[in-house]
Amino acid sequence: MTIFNLGSINADIVYRVPHLPLPGETLSTTGFQRGLGGKGANMSIAAARAAGRVVHIGAVGRDGDWAVQSLMESGVHTQHIQRAETTGHAIIYVDETGENTIVIHPGANREISMSSVIAALSDATQGDTFVTQNETNMQADAVRIAASKGMRTAYAAAPFDADAVQAVLGDLDLLVLNEVEAQQLETATGQTLTDIGVPDVVMTLGAKGCRWFHGKQAQDFAAHKVTPVDTTGAGDTFTGYLLAGLDRGEPMEQAIRLAQKAGALMVQRQGTADVIPDLKDVRDAFPS
Ligand code: RIB
Ligand code: NA
Repeated sequence: MTIFNLGSINADIVYRVPHLPLPGETLSTTGFQRGLGGKGANMSIAAARAAGRVVHIGAVGRDGDWAVQSLMESGVHTQHIQRAETTGHAIIYVDETGENTIVIHPGANREISMSSVIAALSDATQGDTFVTQNETNMQADAVRIAASKGMRTAYAAAPFDADAVQAVLGDLDLLVLNEVEAQQLETATGQTLTDIGVPDVVMTLGAKGCRWFHGKQAQDFAAHKVTPVDTTGAGDTFTGYLLAGLDRGEPMEQAIRLAQKAGALMVQRQGTADVIPDLKDVRDAFPS
């Protein structure tokens, strides 16, 4: 089947810093790197490297050929990426523990047209997967269209916005979010994750693994113990792998386990989309 991803495409500008900058502080970097990022692009590349068939729906600026090229080289279908003014970008600080702080300028990512979403999803059929995050426009409309076509609909609630999540909840099959986002959602809805009406919720817990809520059941998955170098893109890698697994018909447990391995490998790598592991990397790192 095919995974349609309405998602952001960013130029990631990454500064290594001794610690995350404090208000009013001037800080020198210990390293600098730039490359492809964006939660959307990262998920597309992860799903493609996990052997999924991926169609990316999005927009870059007139300066964005390199980004489209990079997605294509990873096997992502790019014919539904539009052109707008400026490619989105992200300023990322990564400290010595691998923790980050990210500021994004959405640019083209918020200029996606309804017609291009409709055109892209006109190729979708029942059982295909649709995923989006919160770094573009058009999410709520796109989720509604995807649901009406009988697609598996997934949403990664990052960066968190209570209104944006609540606008799509009723049409979702799968919600992926971290612990902080889960708390924010519970506060906003006044409901627990098992009561929000989404059949499958996967809550990532960083070094503590993740928890899958299915109906009234919750199942915990322990994390692989690794020393993080750069956590940037690890959550996106997890979600991309998870969707690729589900899309090829794997049970949730199996898809989560593979996604955890890919995420554990990703936190040990410096950089974003360019260093997302492929299936062979994951199998080599976790032979079983
Ligand atoms: O999740 C990591 C991503 O968030 C980065 O690649 C950055 O572009 C922002 O979208
Ligand atoms: Na990384």
